[in-house]
Amino acid sequence: MLTHLESTDTLQSNDIKAKSFSLQALVEALKSQKTMPALEQIYDWLRRVDVTAAEIAPYIGFKEGNYWRHRVFRNDFVEMLVLCWRPGHRTPIHDHNGSHGGVRVLEGTLWETIFHYDAVKGLEYKTAREHTDGSVTGSDIPDIHQLGNPDVSEQNLVTIHVYAPPLGVLHTYKPGSVKIDLYVPDESESFT
Ligand SMILES: [Fe+2]
Repeated sequence: MLTHLESTDTLQSNDIKAKSFSLQALVEALKSQKTMPALEQIYDWLRRVDVTAAEIAPYIGFKEGNYWRHRVFRNDFVEMLVLCWRPGHRTPIHDHNGSHGGVRVLEGTLWETIFHYDAVKGLEYKTAREHTDGSVTGSDIPDIHQLGNPDVSEQNLVTIHVYAPPLGVLHTYKPGSVKIDLYVPDESESFT
């Protein structure tokens, strides 16, 4: 399922030397972190992880009305989530309030819309892009975006997210508005 493998020369971590590895191996690598992993490190992990259906099964679950966040692991430095989206499910327009993170598309099509915030003009549309099976994307700081499973996709979307530090209270935005609201991602369905 991996579509992009870099040379092992580019590996920054001593935790993982293999070209690809299991979800469990990635969780163990995250658990061993004593500092926040850099964004490039997170991208590298997400590109290399080779997730089997059996490994991901405990974190697959959909609900109507909104995407479902399943927490795989969290410590002070980093967290991993699996998000399950029905067609039409999408996040609010948000930033990450100081966290950086990567997203790996396991199944389906992810639409991402990116915005620019101007203190006078308010939130402005910047660009949009599509990510499909196997691709890795992410967000650096500053970043304002919206993620979703297109309502016309006719298929479910499953994504793996790694954030450092773990997400806390985020900011949400509205197009054309200077107003910024606070948003706490729904933790009620997390596994841990
Ligand atoms: Fe995000």
